[in-house]
Amino acid sequence: MTLTKPIYLDNAATSHPKPEAVYLAVMEALRAGGSPGRGSHRSAMAAEHLVFETREALAELFNAASSDRFIFTHNATTAINQALFGLLRPGDRVVTTTVEHNAVTRPLRELQERGVAIVKVAADPVTGIVKSSALQEACLCQPTRLLLVNHCSNVFGSIQPIEGLGRWCHDHGILFMLDGAQSAGSVPIDFQALNIDLFAAPGHKGLLGPQGTGFLYVNEGIELVPLIYGGTGANSHSDRQPQIFPECLESGTLNLPGLAGLSAALQFLQQTGIEQLRTRELELIEKICTGLKNIESVKLYGSDDVMLRAGAISFNLTNYDPAEVGFILDQQEQISARVGLHCAPDAHRTIGTYPTGTVRVSPGYFTTEAEIDHFLQTIEKLNDKKLKS
Ligand SMILES: Cc1ncc(COP(=O)(O)O)c(C=O)c1O
Repeated sequence: MTLTKPIYLDNAATSHPKPEAVYLAVMEALRAGGSPGRGSHRSAMAAEHLVFETREALAELFNAASSDRFIFTHNATTAINQALFGLLRPGDRVVTTTVEHNAVTRPLRELQERGVAIVKVAADPVTGIVKSSALQEACLCQPTRLLLVNHCSNVFGSIQPIEGLGRWCHDHGILFMLDGAQSAGSVPIDFQALNIDLFAAPGHKGLLGPQGTGFLYVNEGIELVPLIYGGTGANSHSDRQPQIFPECLESGTLNLPGLAGLSAALQFLQQTGIEQLRTRELELIEKICTGLKNIESVKLYGSDDVMLRAGAISFNLTNYDPAEVGFILDQQEQISARVGLHCAPDAHRTIGTYPTGTVRVSPGYFTTEAEIDHFLQTIEKLNDKKLKS
């Protein structure tokens, strides 16, 4: 096979390519100008309308009760920080898991220093899945303010079985938050059916929007202290932060070109259908996992049941350091994969791959069968020692 461009298998970091309409929308917004909420002239109003439409599209995609509870951020990390620092106070208690990304682990560690109690419930060392009953047990030990779960692992792709957890939390006076960084756009998610209180996600991974976009959803009735204070375009006479959503948590100029791209991406997702995207993802996951399992020296991590997997697939090859595999894939075969700890050291401790980590491949909607074939042939050659670093 003659390669004309690199094979991109790092969609868990950021999706690539984006739908064509996304590139066009970013360019169009940059050319149109105007800052949402800043002025009543036509450019500002058009920009404001675009932001409104993007919130509406998110509310529709996730079946949220209200679109103005979506706060736009730069990425999932900012959204998670806004939720955690905005909510938690000394004396509060949080139950979470051992498969969290550093976007969760590090703010929680800082909050622990400030007097918040953190309890991490261990995931299964083979599947990477945390039992709901174990989470519930941990929540009941002492009064708990928040249950925070990584919906899909960015290391081994496990989808946490969260059905019923939100309702259970609601009945026990506990807030339920999901880190949806790897699930938004990949797995169908219904905020109302799942009783989700807080949901953080990037716009640039499964949602197929540009980097520099993300959001936090804050359910009705939950108030957060802002992470950032400043101009919101309205009530300019006051030196106090406005109380109304979404402005209260959205100070400063929004990333309009990014949101225009996200809006176009959301239209693409709606037209294609999340179910269709998930079906395609499952086909690719199945092909990769089956291919890898057939290679003698490959150790594949995560669940054997593909239905419990999202796009991140981790493996190692006997006698190879993951960094070496990543180097060969990139330098000799133009295959972009990620190696190491993937910003989730606890997850690697859980499956026994700390500190060197794993090789992670993550296909996307536009990945082709031929690309996967080439990747699998390359791993076979490594297995047969036909490639050298
Ligand atoms: C599970 C998980 N949470 C949070 C993040 C952080 O996302 P972002 O880079 O958009 O801040 C990532 C990024 O890879 C992730 O995989």
